[in-house]
Amino acid sequence: MRFGYFDDARREYVITTPRTPLPWINYLGCEDFFTLLSNTAGGYCFYRDARLRRLTRYRYNNCPLDSEGFRVYIKDGDTVWNPGWQPVQTELDSYSCRHGLGYTVIEGEKDGVGARQELFVPKGELCLLIRLTVSNNCPVKRKLQVFPYLEFCLWDAMDDSSNFQRNLSIGEVEVKDPAIYHKTEYRERRDHYAVFWANRPFDGFDTSREAFIGTYGSPARPQAVFGGGCTGSITHGWQPIAAEQFDLTLGPGDSESIIFGLGYIENPGDEKWESTGVINKKKALAMMARFAADDAFDAALEELRQYWEELLSGYQLYSGAQKLDRMVNVWNQYQCMVTFNMSRSASYFESGMGRGMGFRDSCQDLLGFVHLIPDRARERILDIAATQFPDGSAYHQYQPLTKKGNTAMGSGFNDDPLWLIAGADAYLRETGDWSILDEPVPFDNDPALAKPLLEHLLRSFRYTSSHLGPHGLPLIGRADWNDCLNLNCFSEHPGESFQITGPSEGPVAESVFIAGMFVKYGRALADICRHRGMDVSYMMDAVAAMEASVLDAGWDGDWFRRAFDAAGHVVGGKECREGQIFIEPQGMCVMAGIGKETGQAAAALESVKERLDTPFGIVLLDPPYSRYYLELGEIGSYPPGYKENAAVFCHNNPWIVCAEAELGHGDRAFEVYRRFAPAYIEDISEIHRTEPYVYSQMIAGKDAPDFGEAKNSWLTGTTAWSFVAISQAILGIKPTLDGLLIAPCIPASVKSYSVKRRFRGAVYVITVENPLGVQHGVRELYVNGAAHEPGVIPVQKAGSTVSIRVIMG
Ligand code: GLC
Ligand code: GLC
Repeated sequence: MRFGYFDDARREYVITTPRTPLPWINYLGCEDFFTLLSNTAGGYCFYRDARLRRLTRYRYNNCPLDSEGFRVYIKDGDTVWNPGWQPVQTELDSYSCRHGLGYTVIEGEKDGVGARQELFVPKGELCLLIRLTVSNNCPVKRKLQVFPYLEFCLWDAMDDSSNFQRNLSIGEVEVKDPAIYHKTEYRERRDHYAVFWANRPFDGFDTSREAFIGTYGSPARPQAVFGGGCTGSITHGWQPIAAEQFDLTLGPGDSESIIFGLGYIENPGDEKWESTGVINKKKALAMMARFAADDAFDAALEELRQYWEELLSGYQLYSGAQKLDRMVNVWNQYQCMVTFNMSRSASYFESGMGRGMGFRDSCQDLLGFVHLIPDRARERILDIAATQFPDGSAYHQYQPLTKKGNTAMGSGFNDDPLWLIAGADAYLRETGDWSILDEPVPFDNDPALAKPLLEHLLRSFRYTSSHLGPHGLPLIGRADWNDCLNLNCFSEHPGESFQITGPSEGPVAESVFIAGMFVKYGRALADICRHRGMDVSYMMDAVAAMEASVLDAGWDGDWFRRAFDAAGHVVGGKECREGQIFIEPQGMCVMAGIGKETGQAAAALESVKERLDTPFGIVLLDPPYSRYYLELGEIGSYPPGYKENAAVFCHNNPWIVCAEAELGHGDRAFEVYRRFAPAYIEDISEIHRTEPYVYSQMIAGKDAPDFGEAKNSWLTGTTAWSFVAISQAILGIKPTLDGLLIAPCIPASVKSYSVKRRFRGAVYVITVENPLGVQHGVRELYVNGAAHEPGVIPVQKAGSTVSIRVIMG
């Protein structure tokens, strides 16, 4: 069942009922000011950091669901309604929500009155703009009242939801028509305030939640709206809000619009005040003036459209397959940008208060946005590398504001160092910017320890190759990619961290997954070094030795084992009662080409198909763990079928796509892709429940009672890897150090497609033909009409448009 549809021409997802299975959200903002917005205008906004600079309040895990946001009440006689249905939930005569690229439009109609809310964050501005257009679609004059409403957060979202003994006494506002200023803590150390304004004078306002909503009231029945209107309250402490009232009279066919804005203003210390206790509003007034008129609003929206148009034009597919085109051209790339901006901080599943930026998460996100914003990818790589320790290990997380490593979490996640190579390699292949390798980068954020980036990559390599266990496989430390496989932690007490309890430097527990990574990214690093004329024989020896260890101790007979635990027991093998086979090493080892010649790679993927496949994607392991095992860690803390304990953990499904493509299995690669690609499962939205336009982190596995139900949408490494899988592994457009390689691996039934791709300043118009119906293999290649030997196409002149014709066979 669907709850909307894709409008491909406008690059929007149109939701046609407010009763979606969960709030379906969008992200507004692409620089410093962000808003999360649901299809009923729920959500919240923040400046840069979702924890430390939260402008509006949001209660996660609340009931009723999604109760805070940017709502507008419309009072028409005795009827009160919202254009987005929530929170009053008056039945509407029509409703739609269009989530577009960086903007959302919500429209409702009731008894001949239409209301439309357009929301976006203008480029280069620190504000959310909302235009409300109310129209009278009937033949008689209408008198209406309109009330926008939002609740302020007292800046630090964590403190805001816990420190009530202080917070209920500190709230402060100022009102100067047509704006409400939220200035809590501005009297002391803060140099910022928020402003909610309208582009015309209001007919009433409230800033006290109690006055507007009522002491025992609810946003579903605000006392001021249902009663006699706003009361002009000025809050002192308690809960500061912004509510405004506008009395409208609309003749038949008339419509009126009001532009609202919610802005963040910072003042230098010596310019904080206009007079004693009165905040300096100069910047706020200037912001309000910039968006006073509809044409300014429209121009800013148009600028945003242009921005996205330009950004997405770097990779466009014309396959004739609607669902595929919309994933590749719009939604997958859009989600990659959102993960770039948010990392794992703020979604409807991540509170914005928890983790900072993950080392491995950020490196992998990069794989999905490097072609979109190479300059910012460069900066990101250098930031991440600066948190590496001199011995090559890495902080697992770092804070986006300070860019410093998070000492509470520390290091010891032994896959982390190798992801840095993955990120840098992707950047080099995309840009050819070799200068990044010479860029001096601190270790542990200490400039005195700075060394060129290349040295960081070499230390990542060395750290792994010098921390091997009894089988010659890398020591796992606290965990590898699977944060929940904690083989050295042994946590026995509730509330302890599963990851950082206990010794992390276990000398026995090893990871076959990291071994696969070492082969894959060790080779990538060797290629880079070879380019620089360095001797790489020692690297290739280490890689070969690792490959041999994987094929020996890491091989279980029909698939790759997962690990050895601290007692030296196999994890992910036939002798295990539960957790016999895991997806991660099958994906990573085959992507690395391990066992390709010997047939073990093919056998491993066959086992994945037999043991882990489901109609909703490939589960992480089988059989699930039925209880908590001290020696395995968090993994067994999840009930069977959820999260790392045998859900379809979407992130590693694209690894299987890439692995299948590595073996030339085009039919199967695409089959795996389409099972979890959102646009393909739109029809089962009532089961899947999360947004049908973005990837979720997990889908409940076959052992869960609600098999097929997704959670943790938006902020997941799935999006970057899915883009790699479809754009590089399947469609086969692969950036290499020397140029572009076109090596498709597609279903035999695909006859042709074309891709327009920007690469190092030139535009490649690539047409792929498949006259014989093969799954891989290139027979003929033409560059600008001239025959070219199949293989890498050397870098073309920046500014040029190159036409490439590929004939498979
Ligand atoms: C989460 C984490 C990621 C980890 C994965 C598997 O997605 O963000 O770092 O690899 O879970 O545990
Ligand atoms: C939990 C989650 C996992 C995440 C980790 C790190 O273990 O299950 O997905 O990666 O926390 O925050």
